Amino acid sequence: MGTPEHPWRGIDLDVYEQHMGDPGVGQLQRLRDITGEQLAAYPFRAIGVLGVAGGNGLDLIDPETTDAVYGYDINPEYLAACETRYRARLGDRLRLIETSIDRSVRIERVDLLIANLVVEYVGAEEFVAFAAANARSIGVLSCVIQHNDKAGFVSSTNHSSSFDALASVSSDIDPEALAAAMSDAGFAALDHREYPLPNGKTLVRQDFRTTPRP
Ligand SMILES: C[S@@+](CC[C@H](N)C(=O)[O-])C[C@H]1O[C@@H](n2cnc3c(N)ncnc32)[C@H](O)[C@@H]1O
Repeated sequence: MGTPEHPWRGIDLDVYEQHMGDPGVGQLQRLRDITGEQLAAYPFRAIGVLGVAGGNGLDLIDPETTDAVYGYDINPEYLAACETRYRARLGDRLRLIETSIDRSVRIERVDLLIANLVVEYVGAEEFVAFAAANARSIGVLSCVIQHNDKAGFVSSTNHSSSFDALASVSSDIDPEALAAAMSDAGFAALDHREYPLPNGKTLVRQDFRTTPRP
């Protein structure tokens, strides 16, 4: 018997993008805009994206000023879509890596590491352990989590049932608890922004940088 298939490997990219792009959800465009803000906020030549999915926002990266773009995801079909969509634009800079993010993963050195809506699937404790293990390879870590005050974890659309299996790997992340755990792991908070969504959820962006250990 092999390892059970990870639920994210069973979700078709078209279904995922239609769900996230649904006007009542409004997350695909919002995340693209936030990615644009993250790219603009910090100077970088090397960038990493954890949970890159279909590469939402990678079109905003300027190839002229960028040496490397690392995209990590657990779903090889999503990475194949990134290849089709962005290889021509980014050329050899684009490095796509199929992996399940956990504390054992070591990433290439990046100035900016973006982790948008992936911490809830990795788990806060595992994500912080991953960040700590890779602290020397990360300039700024900018992550977005979703805060579900009024809505359920998965927003309601015609495609919602396609995401039922994610319940086994998803958890609500408390922004303050994440910031505290990151601080304990040696990361200082740089910025905190909130982005309300049409369905009552809020996207919370938290940026961190490593602090030298005494
Ligand atoms: C909600 S989507 C991310 C959206 C995307 N970052 C954006 O801005 O539009 C979550 C992504 O994380 C990936 N993912 C989930 N758990 C993962 C894990 N443990 N390791 C690597 N990728 C994972 C999924 O395959 C999916 O592509």
